[in-house]
This record gives sequence, structure tokens and C-alpha cells, in this order.
Amino acid sequence: MTTIAIDGPVVRLRHPAFTDGWRAFILSDSHLALDDERGLPYRQHSQRMAGGYKQAQAYWEQALERAVAEKVNHLFLLGDMCSFPSAAVVDYLSQTLRDTGIAYSYIAGNHDWHYEGMPGSEIALRDEWCRRRLAPLYQGRQPLMHAEVHGGLRVVLVDNSVYEILPEQRDFFRAQVAHGGPMILLVHVPLYVPGRSIFFGCGHPQWGAATDPYWQIEGRERWPESGHSACTYDFHREVFATLELPAIFAGHIHRRSLDVHCGKTQIVVPGLAVAGEFTELRLCGEATSGQ
Ligand SMILES: [Fe+2]
Repeated sequence: MTTIAIDGPVVRLRHPAFTDGWRAFILSDSHLALDDERGLPYRQHSQRMAGGYKQAQAYWEQALERAVAEKVNHLFLLGDMCSFPSAAVVDYLSQTLRDTGIAYSYIAGNHDWHYEGMPGSEIALRDEWCRRRLAPLYQGRQPLMHAEVHGGLRVVLVDNSVYEILPEQRDFFRAQVAHGGPMILLVHVPLYVPGRSIFFGCGHPQWGAATDPYWQIEGRERWPESGHSACTYDFHREVFATLELPAIFAGHIHRRSLDVHCGKTQIVVPGLAVAGEFTELRLCGEATSGQ
């Protein structure tokens, strides 16, 4: 069984099968808003988000410099790495990541693929812009879901940036569980935990048109009258029932938090753009003693 120890920003997962000392930085919500002349035709769709976080680029570069200096093994990017999908920001993200020489994995947040006010459903816009613009960040992986094994830990990344889970994502998650062994789940939008706000919205029973506060401000389709699909609830229930899944990591909220629900620990990592903070994941095998 995997155990968890948390010291401030450092999360240690311990299991006899893990490679002792394997480390990753988990970065989320860096909200970079770079743009250039290629973004001119989209300016009306990017304007509102463009000036949001003054320190975003400095915090991004500091985090990557630290990752290089500390020789971490991997970077996980949990979405909203940019505030809109300009060609300039995607070039910058892929170039700066490549320059680190550190392997990385990425899933999108709700802003990464969104030019506000563009017509179309969120699912269709996500499909279009993930393919059209964000493609380099996936490095050939499937944008909606992928999984990798690092140091004996299975890491499952699922894009829930529309708050909903599609049937193929639920089925993919089931197939990952069937492999057996310790695993964690990485998503952008935190999963619903009783007592949490609507923004812990994946599987939230109140999620829907009546509780959608920002659809006009964000220039997107309103959350559906009917609330979540049965598939989203299946996924939520199954995640919290998976024996060998000790932890879920999410972003989106911008504020660090921790919930324990049904024996699972959900860790929301802070928004990098707010104060330059992030979370570090360390694997401990049998070798290390406690600290
Ligand atoms: Fe978000």
C-alpha cells in the first residue's frame, strides 16, 4: 500500500516498488499570455485574459530554472499553462521546456484551448484547438488521456477541462486500473469532494446551468441544464473506489489545498502565476527512512 507524507510543497509517496529518489515538479496555471502579430485576428477573443498575471513569465522561468538546477526527473503540467492558445505562447512554452532537457507531460486546462467568444461547444473547441495549436505540447501523446509509468508509479493524465468526462476517457481509466499496481491521477479540474465549491466541479452534483457563474464573462456555452453525464459520475465514483490509487493531483483553483475523501488524498497544486509556487512529487522506495 502506498503511503503519503506532505511537508509544505513536497509530497512524498512511499511504496516498496518505487525508485527511491525519483522527483518531479507539478506545475499548474502559469497563465502565460504572450502574443504577437499572428494573434491579431484573435485579439477580440484574447483581450480579457491578456493582462491577468504580471509575473507569469518570471515565475515560469524561475520554476524551470529550479527544475534544471535541482535535476528533477520530470515535469507534469496540469493545464492553464497559457491564458489563450496563441501561436506565440505555444512556441514559447515548447521552446523553454525543450531548453530544460527535462521530460514533461501535459494536459490542458479550460483556458489553454479557449479564445473567449468563439462559437461552438466546449468539447468541439477543445478538440479543434488542442489539435490546431497545442499539439507540440503533447509530443505525440493523445490529448484527451494518456498514461506513463515513472519509477514504478503509473501516472494517468485525463483532460477534464470541460468539467465532464467522455466515455473513452472513463474506459481508458478502467483499462489503466486493470494493469494493477500503484497509480495516481492528474487532472486540471479537481474532482468533487463534499463541501467544496462548484469549481471542484468534476462530478459535482450541483454542476449545471443554474450554478455556472462565469459563462457570459468567459464567452463560452453555459454548462448544461441537465448537469453532468452519467459517465462523469461513473468516473468520479470509480476513481474514489480504486484501491491502489492513493492520490489525485489537480490545478484550476490557484490555491493549494488538500482533501481526504473515501481514503483518497486530492491535492490541488497552487497557481504558478499567482506567487510562483508549485508542488514537488518525490518517490520513496524501501531504502529511505523517514524524515
Ligand atoms: Fe482552469
